[in-house]
Amino acid sequence: MKVVHSKEELGEQIAEWRHNDEHVALVPTMGSLHAGHLSLVELAREHAERVVVSIFVNPTQFGEAEDFDEYPRTLELDKRRLKTTAADLIFAPDVATVYPLGVENATTVSVPGLTENFCGASRPGHFDGVTTVVARLFALVQPDVAVFGQKDYQQQLVIRHMAEDMNLPVSIITANTVREEDGLAMSSRNAYLSDDERAIAPVLFKTLGAVGQELQNGRRNFADLESKAMEELREAGFTVDYFAIRRAQNLEVPDRDCDELVVLAAAALGSARLIDNIVVTV
Ligand code: PAJ
Repeated sequence: MKVVHSKEELGEQIAEWRHNDEHVALVPTMGSLHAGHLSLVELAREHAERVVVSIFVNPTQFGEAEDFDEYPRTLELDKRRLKTTAADLIFAPDVATVYPLGVENATTVSVPGLTENFCGASRPGHFDGVTTVVARLFALVQPDVAVFGQKDYQQQLVIRHMAEDMNLPVSIITANTVREEDGLAMSSRNAYLSDDERAIAPVLFKTLGAVGQELQNGRRNFADLESKAMEELREAGFTVDYFAIRRAQNLEVPDRDCDELVVLAAAALGSARLIDNIVVTV
């Protein structure tokens, strides 16, 4: 598995592919790769002859009290994992390559509206960091397509919005969430769970599923469904950040007739903040 760190090495490889009329897909990640990330690579390959996986723990999307320092960095292991996939190249830049003027002086990209609630409200500045780094990765790699996971539902909506609003010449593709056998959405942060917390963690997806079932059954008292679900999560031991039923298209409050809903939740077990969601088409 070829790994490049610099803008120049990356540019040479991309130019060679372009010269051969090959399309390029980008899968942006922060590394510590699991089967969820690998599924994005396979989906990317369906849309382009060449797949670049970027691995960059982006400092600007972590809040001051967040886990930037602890975030797992496992490049050697990630390389081995990617060897068995359709990835052609790993782009693992350092901070100075992504932010040549330094993080403090960086030009930022910010999506209003969509970023104000949910993870945007609990993690101020987080989405500005995400859009800023993704715009930079797009500029460096110049991909035809880029793949993001549904697991980070709000993130993929925000990135779609950015790409559309800025007329970026890249198609955004969203990949299904890959789960452990008991339903827990795979996440690099699951490594923070103790054994006891790990045993409780699948309750999050079960609760989302139960609410999804109620919606399928025609129930439309959204506020009641949300507060009952939050209560269940608290009883199981979670500290609930949010649990909401929204319009899948734009996270706005739905009316009774809305036929594409997303149920999204964020809740912590100890130091692990878990997020998950399901889309319900009724
Ligand atoms: P990271 O958390 O490493 O996730 C990289 C990509 O993998 C994201 O698009 C995320 O939604 C997707 N992903 C994570 N868990 C998944 C799962 N269980 N199933 C399917 N896809 C999953 O998200 C980020 O990094 C960063 O914010 C990034 C976009 C790279 C910008 O720094």
